[in-house]
Amino acid sequence: RTVYVNGAYVPENEATVSVFDRGFLFGDGIYEVAAVVGGKLIDFPAHTARLHRSANELGMRFTVSDEELLAIHRELISRNGVDEGVVYLQMTRGAIDRDFMFDTEKLTPTLVLFTQNRPLVDTGVAKAGMKIVSIPDLRWGRCDIKTVQLLYPSLGKMEAKSRGADDAWMVRDGVVTEGTSNNAFIVTQEGAIVTRPLSPSILPGITRAALMDYSAVSGTPVEEREFTIEEARNAAEAFITSASVFVGPVVSIDGVELSGGKPGPVTLGLRKQYIEESL
Ligand code: PDD
Repeated sequence: RTVYVNGAYVPENEATVSVFDRGFLFGDGIYEVAAVVGGKLIDFPAHTARLHRSANELGMRFTVSDEELLAIHRELISRNGVDEGVVYLQMTRGAIDRDFMFDTEKLTPTLVLFTQNRPLVDTGVAKAGMKIVSIPDLRWGRCDIKTVQLLYPSLGKMEAKSRGADDAWMVRDGVVTEGTSNNAFIVTQEGAIVTRPLSPSILPGITRAALMDYSAVSGTPVEEREFTIEEARNAAEAFITSASVFVGPVVSIDGVELSGGKPGPVTLGLRKQYIEESL
């Protein structure tokens, strides 16, 4: 694989970043994951816009233009022959001797991109659905910023695995915030889709936004409101959205089966619609 590091395209085993990089020492970095299907990027402008927002919220310098970012994505997709997969982008505040305090102006951001080949459209998750367990949401209060501080979500996925599940939904004060790396939705017995409103507690998902737009156009009722984990366990269906899974059916929550333990019809319809409209 060829990866991109600070202006250079290099073989992955020759790519280096400083041990003093603040992304490494402090988790002082932001990222994006954009899907590629048929060699084409999905929703690239929205990912770039969110990257700018994350940088702004952290007072991080942005030293690359959107045109350059697109060119780097395309170059890596082409060099690595990515037909289906993702492009991962990470931008950190830069490298400087370790100190909690920093002077952003003296720092040059570190920019790293790499690709991962993997099937996204025809996957086991899409066919069999995912088993979810709930865990407390112990993350910091700015989950709307897409930072590389992913220890808790990573441990959450490991806990889900150890409990025989595929992923975890996080719960604060009884209310579902989001999945470890995705936004959470339920489908009510009346056929409405429900997802919690945007706030500093969740990431404003690009896939979430696209799905809600499509639903509004096709006339599927959308309720943007909080829902409890109990309501989720009693819902007709549930699903998750993310750039790398699209619309992922949820077939059980904490051992309670939904829609007969199979992906539900509303979810499958939305997945089909997302794939038709976005890809
Ligand atoms: N995760 N919520 C969280 C906490 C996320 O990490 C993600 C994305 C989402 C969905 O956002 P989007 O639809 O823009 O991908 C929601 C990426 C895919 C990841 O960490 O790999």
